[in-house]
Amino acid sequence: MRTVVLAGELKSAIDQAKAAGKRIAFVPTMGALHAGHLSLIARAQERADFVVVSIFVNPLQFGAGEDFEKYPRTIDADSERLAEAGADLLFAPTVDVIYPDSAPGHAPKATKSAGAVGEILEGAVRPGHFDGMLTVVARLLDLVQPDIAVFGAKDAQQLFLIRRMAKADYPTLEILEAPTVREPSGLAMSSRNRYLSEAQLELADQLSAALRIAKATAITPEHALESARTAMAKTPEAKLDYIALVDADSFADIREGFQGRALMLIAARVGETRLIDNIEIVF
Ligand code: PAJ
Repeated sequence: MRTVVLAGELKSAIDQAKAAGKRIAFVPTMGALHAGHLSLIARAQERADFVVVSIFVNPLQFGAGEDFEKYPRTIDADSERLAEAGADLLFAPTVDVIYPDSAPGHAPKATKSAGAVGEILEGAVRPGHFDGMLTVVARLLDLVQPDIAVFGAKDAQQLFLIRRMAKADYPTLEILEAPTVREPSGLAMSSRNRYLSEAQLELADQLSAALRIAKATAITPEHALESARTAMAKTPEAKLDYIALVDADSFADIREGFQGRALMLIAARVGETRLIDNIEIVF
């Protein structure tokens, strides 16, 4: 596996692969790779001949007081795992490669807007997060020019917004969704799980447990929400931000009598660590 840092190096590697007739799949990440990320790479390999992975901790999607500084950076271990997984190219740019127009010492600006869906749920707790996320995804797509891009169902609101942007701005790009990879306990894998102590890991398990219980008892939307809230109330040390039930196709809150594919979304803080998870429920 080759590693490139500069946009020019990336372009020549991609041009070479394209000239050889290869179909290119792209897996953007922020590193601290775990089995969830690796499943995206496996999915990409099923559908393409050349898999590009990026590792970039995007300052623009972290708010003031969030964990940008302490976000785990494990590039050596990551590149080993990527080589083992058979990725073809690692793009590990610096901030100035991604945001060349922002003056040194000045924060880059978002050039994409997530709109109203970017302001609910995760967006309500993390103002500007989704604008910053879409901005970097667009920039990375412009640089990599892939045929396919792969994202995890774990970040459902992010995936919804990326799909919408891709439909409007990258009409020939195919977006692939990969299911959430979980620990044996049910906990959704996340780079942030490494912040958790043993005791906190047990609390964190409650998020997926609440979703499972809700799905198993989902006679009506109200019932499902009630079950999840009751389950979370058992561990008040996991500070609940929200439990919501939305139409998977629009992210609108669902109303009584809803029929179709819904997503139950949950977010909670365990100590300093924010965790999110979701599950599909069909009514
Ligand atoms: P990151 O959190 O590193 O996640 C990279 C990709 O891995 C995302 O598509 C995410 O949904 C997926 N992923 C994370 N945990 C997963 C799990 N347990 N199972 C399956 N997929 C999982 O999401 C980001 O980075 C950033 O916002 C990014 C899109 C790279 C833009 O900066």
